[in-house]
Amino acid sequence: MHNTQSTDLLFEISKPGRRCHRLPACDVPTKTELLPKESLAEAPPALPEVAEIELIRHFNNLSQRNFSIDTNFYPLGSCTMKYNPKRHERLAAFSGLAGLHPLQDDDSCQGMLRLLYEMQEYLAEISGLPAVSLQPAAGAHGELTALFVAAAYFRDLKQSHRKKVLVPDSAHGTNPASAALAGFEAVTVKSNAQGLVDLEDLAAKLDDKVAVFMITNPNTLGLFESRIKTITEMLHAKGALVYLDGANMNAILGITRPGDFGADMQHYNVHKTFTGPHGGGGPGSGPIAVRDFLAPYLPAPVVARSADQSKYFLEFNRPKTIGRVRSFFGNVGILLRGYAYIRTLGPDGLKAVSEHAVLNANYLLALLKDAIDVPHGDRCMHEFVASAKLLRRTKKISAMDIGKRLLDHGYHAPTVYFPLVVPEALMMEPTETEGKETLDAFAAAFLKIIEEDASFLQKAPHTLPISRPDEVKAAKEPILRWLKAV
Ligand SMILES: Cc1ncc(COP(=O)(O)O)c(C=O)c1O
Repeated sequence: MHNTQSTDLLFEISKPGRRCHRLPACDVPTKTELLPKESLAEAPPALPEVAEIELIRHFNNLSQRNFSIDTNFYPLGSCTMKYNPKRHERLAAFSGLAGLHPLQDDDSCQGMLRLLYEMQEYLAEISGLPAVSLQPAAGAHGELTALFVAAAYFRDLKQSHRKKVLVPDSAHGTNPASAALAGFEAVTVKSNAQGLVDLEDLAAKLDDKVAVFMITNPNTLGLFESRIKTITEMLHAKGALVYLDGANMNAILGITRPGDFGADMQHYNVHKTFTGPHGGGGPGSGPIAVRDFLAPYLPAPVVARSADQSKYFLEFNRPKTIGRVRSFFGNVGILLRGYAYIRTLGPDGLKAVSEHAVLNANYLLALLKDAIDVPHGDRCMHEFVASAKLLRRTKKISAMDIGKRLLDHGYHAPTVYFPLVVPEALMMEPTETEGKETLDAFAAAFLKIIEEDASFLQKAPHTLPISRPDEVKAAKEPILRWLKAV
């Protein structure tokens, strides 16, 4: 994994006695006087001993190996890698917020409770679903929480025989996984030739054992489910609930609301839609919003306001709650960033976000669609999915080859091989925060790449320290500790 830069190998350049800092002699009782001998380590930990300049170079060099939205264009479909405004960082770091202890009493943190209460209100308004829990720590966690809520609701109705959760074949893998974890059986509903839910297949699978239909709208092909009203009516006619996977809210903010088109529950990915920095596994925030009749089952506590509106408090007294799903109040730091974003933009600004996200995706699609197959049409919402199937057949160039070669040009690869319904998928989401010049330059690089020689592309990337690791092995057997080279 390492290249030959000596600054990369902190342990290997270690020299006994080298230091960045020297501490003054200790003028308080030492640990040996205060702690029992058996609790003490016998020797100091084997840490590298280096000078300050070596340390600084090491970490600066490492930081430059990170790919980030602050350094380069990141069209990773479905992940909404949009710019994270820096003023959000300042807000989240205010000492009055970052320095609070989660066990403080309500009276001593009214400011924080007010922000969280208002965040609940904004998320309710944007979704058209009035009751919100901020606890879930990511989108997938929101899905799981909402399915627990649905299970509790059906238990109350004495309808625990509803064991099925329907999931379209284009759905994100977390949907069926959440269904299984919540104790349901996930049943796949097919997409039709247009990439939308096949209503005949839905009707065939919709019986009185169905608890929930999990639908993503716009779906993962970047298409708006235009029959969504019919779909939600079909589900409600059978007594089932509709769950909206809100990962793609970036396309519909202020334009339509899940509650208005018939969803009963949804999650948000605050880290995507409302610019929490993410990537590399976190941190996220996946609040859920639900209809009134599901509110009693939400995780406790929720943030409430006293009847005379003078005070905010954590409301624990919720007899039907499914219980806690997260320690304390969720990933508050990400919620605060989302709050700042919503307050900065206001209703008109949020609507403009989605309009520009859709415009940018359509612009990029128009630049690429004559050169690469886009199986589901000439128009899209905030993202689109191209297919390298024909390129693979005619020129032996795969989606992976294109993604890897884009890295050489300084672009993050699009999402590849997802959704599963598109062979050799390349899913691109430019987001609203990119300018025309960036999209033009990206398209030019893309068009150049697909004209390159297949044998050259198959070895890409050519300029990075790591080329094509065994991704399964890297995920299943990660080497997370420094190992001395032999
Ligand atoms: C469509 C969709 N649903 C759900 C999720 C899960 O969200 P999270 O990664 O926050 O758990 C994702 C994440 O990529 C997604 O794209």
